[in-house]
This record gives sequence, C-alpha cells and structure tokens, in this order.
Amino acid sequence: MPNYPLTPKTVPHVKTQYRTIRTKLPVPESLPILQEMRRYEPQSMSGLPPVVWKKGENFLVHDHWGNRWIDWSSGVLITNAGHGRKEIIDAIVAQAKSGLLSNYLFPHALRGKLARMLVARAPKNLDKAFILSTGSETLECAIKLCRTRGMNLKPSKRVIVSFLNAFHGRTLGAQMIGGIPALKTWIGRQDPRMIQVPFPEGFRCKDVRFALFTKSLAKAGVHPSDVCGVILESYQGGNASFADVAYIKALRAWCDRHSALLVFDEVQAGFGRTGKYWGFEHYGVKADILCCGKGISGSLPLSAVLANHQVLDLYAPGSMTSTHSCNPVCCAATIANLEVLDRVKAVANSARLGKALHARLRGFQKKYPTRIGAVHGKGLVAALHMVKPGAEEPDADAAWRIVEACYERGVLMFSPVGFGGASVKISPPLTITRGALEESLGVLEEALGAVLG
Ligand SMILES: Cc1ncc(COP(=O)(O)O)c(C=O)c1O
Repeated sequence: MPNYPLTPKTVPHVKTQYRTIRTKLPVPESLPILQEMRRYEPQSMSGLPPVVWKKGENFLVHDHWGNRWIDWSSGVLITNAGHGRKEIIDAIVAQAKSGLLSNYLFPHALRGKLARMLVARAPKNLDKAFILSTGSETLECAIKLCRTRGMNLKPSKRVIVSFLNAFHGRTLGAQMIGGIPALKTWIGRQDPRMIQVPFPEGFRCKDVRFALFTKSLAKAGVHPSDVCGVILESYQGGNASFADVAYIKALRAWCDRHSALLVFDEVQAGFGRTGKYWGFEHYGVKADILCCGKGISGSLPLSAVLANHQVLDLYAPGSMTSTHSCNPVCCAATIANLEVLDRVKAVANSARLGKALHARLRGFQKKYPTRIGAVHGKGLVAALHMVKPGAEEPDADAAWRIVEACYERGVLMFSPVGFGGASVKISPPLTITRGALEESLGVLEEALGAVLG
C-alpha cells in the first residue's frame, strides 16, 4: 500500500457550511506530530490521510489549524451515533469521576445492565451477552464456542467454515478464518480444520448458488457432520458486499440439518450501519452467534458476543474471561451510546439516507461504467469497486487517488480497502444530515471527474 508523503502540498481553499480547508495539506505545523509517529510507531500504523484530529463533532472532524472535513469514515465504522456525543462524554466523565476505572470481573452496577440492554436489542433466541474489548476477541471466542459445542457432540466435529475475502480481525484465530491470502502468509501452519469457501456476492464471485458451498466442502474433503460452525461477516467489510439472500437461507437450513452454528460477524454491520439494527436481518434468517464491536460503544473499546445461554454457558465460572471485559468506563460509554442510537433514530436515518446515497452512487457508476465495476452496500455503508478501464482487474491506484482528492477537498475517508485494495469505502456517522451527505457526494463526484476524467 502506498503512503502519504509528509510534504505539504498547496491545495485550493474550501469554505462551505461544513467544510473548511485553509492550509496546505498536510498542514506544515502538523509535521512534527506526524513525524514523531512515523519515527516511533510501526509503519503499519500509517497509511491514512495525514490529518491530525483535534476533535470530532457529529459528522465533522476538526484539526488544530481550522480545517474541517465531513467524515466518511466514522473512525473505522465506530461512531455510528456521531463523533463527540455529549451524552457519551458525560457518561464517561461521570463514571471516571466516580473513582472506579477498572475492576476485572468483580461485579459493578453497569455490567448486568449493559448485558440486559444488548440482549433486549438482539433477536429473542440470543439471551446472553459476553462483554469483551475488541472485535477480534469476539471472533476468537466464537471459534472457541463453536468448537467446544461441536466436539461435545462428537470429537471430529471441529471444522470451521468461513469465506474467501473475509476479514475478521488481526489475531491468530481471526486471521486463520480470514479469507485474504496476503494477510495469512505469516501463519505458518494453517489449521486444516478451518476452510474458506467462495463468498456469493455476485461481482467477484458470479456463482451465487448454494451448491458451490457443498461442492467446496467436498473438494476440501470435509464431511458436513464434522462442521461445528460457519462464520461470515453480515456484509464483507472490505467491499461492503452482501451475500445472496437465497444462498444464506439455504446455508441456514444446511446448518440446522448438520447441527452447525451459524455465526454472523456484526462487528461492522451492527448497530444500524446497514439501515437495519443488525446487518444479518437483511437475510431473514436466525443467527446462533453475533459478534459485535465498533459501533456498539461508538467510542471506547468494547465488544460483545451474543448467543443463547446453552452456548454462552459452556464454560465454567472464571474460565471464559478477559482482563478488560466489562471495564466500567467502557460500559458507561456503551450504555449511553445504545440510548443515543435509539433516541436519535439512527437506524431509520441510515435506511432513509442510505437510499439517497446508493441512488447517487449508482448514477456515478452509470457515468463511469468502465471504471466503477460495482457499487455495493446498504444503508450508510457503500463501496465503489474501482477497476482498470473496461476490465474487472482492481484499480488500487485510481481508488487511492479518489480518496486523496476527497481528502484535499474536505471529505475524509480511510484509504482504499477490499479486493485488490481498490474499494473506495463510504461510511459516515449514521447521524449525518441530508445536506451534508449531498454536499459530500458532490465532492466525490468532483473527485471522480478529476481522477477518471
Ligand atoms: C468485520 C470485522 N470483524 C472483526 C474486526 C476486528 O475488530 P477489531 O479491530 O476491533 O479487533 C473488524 C475490524 O475491522 C471487522 O471489520
């Protein structure tokens, strides 16, 4: 992946209701901060547009020098309820001031309340919540639960099936079930009982028939009765790609037939991102385990695994825990965030504005049919799949330049992700207004014109 040079560039100034660009970019005065990070941190921590964030305000990001961007990143799909929400700040401050910052598994007043609130927002069959800190941890936990349950049924029932192009986090188990080969080269000894099959999204994988699933298992020499769990992102994050609905319905029936758990990774999709509370609701099926993170707290690190008690109670007291599980400050932030999401009707806003977003993006695809291979996503998540002229080969360079052109014009995205690093990902806070969304789409249109001609 390329990186942004730390050489200030003169860019046209911008001043609108939402956006201000009044300096060179990166800002000359920000260079010491940026250089310090490049000097002392691993280079893997760079690669995003070099904006030094001072504060976030709903759907805006401010730097220290008077520049303002409309945010299309939500951090990385964290701030569904908007940046810098007063209710969340107040809850964090109140909890911190109470004097309890950390207490491991010792009970505190917010733990049960948060678990209850999560269960109340989940489908009925998921009646317990295990609170953790990061998304990756929830996937590790889901793997463990599927295997433990499966091996209790019969010792060979331990195969986990996941999907090509999937991203489930950066820890060992999460990368073993991930489907991006370049991220897996370091693993050394891939668990032969974790296999990946094609993800039926219709663009990179044109065959969306469920037969491909069973054929792929047979090809890998896996007997269906040995599968303990099937794990998928509700939409594949890198490309904002949903699976074919009929396929997922058939998958659900297959899991029931073979007593395998169906796990949806909702780390990106949950909490309204796709215009429904949970992303998997678009498929009209039942989930056995939901892995949640990011937008669950909208702020501090907190994640959760939701499942039925028969699954979540597989481990004895004290034997499935984590040091920062249920940190009281993170719990306070999450409770406030869940309340804000409900109160401001973030899910409905995501569904309503998502329609406008996708209509506009489809228009851009019509204008550049040989360069935008596909537009995927639902609600307030979308990805433009950039391709080389007239081909299906991903065009990472064009995607990179589009993101850069938007950044220079006051719309902030993270760098391209997904297949071939060629997906331009759009994921504003769910509280963005129609006016700001339209204005930022105008910026994208201008950027597309500048890059694609
Ligand atoms: C779908 C999905 N699952 C899991 C993760 C891992 O979450 P975390 O980075 O909090 O460990 C991510 C992070 O981007 C994700 O997008």
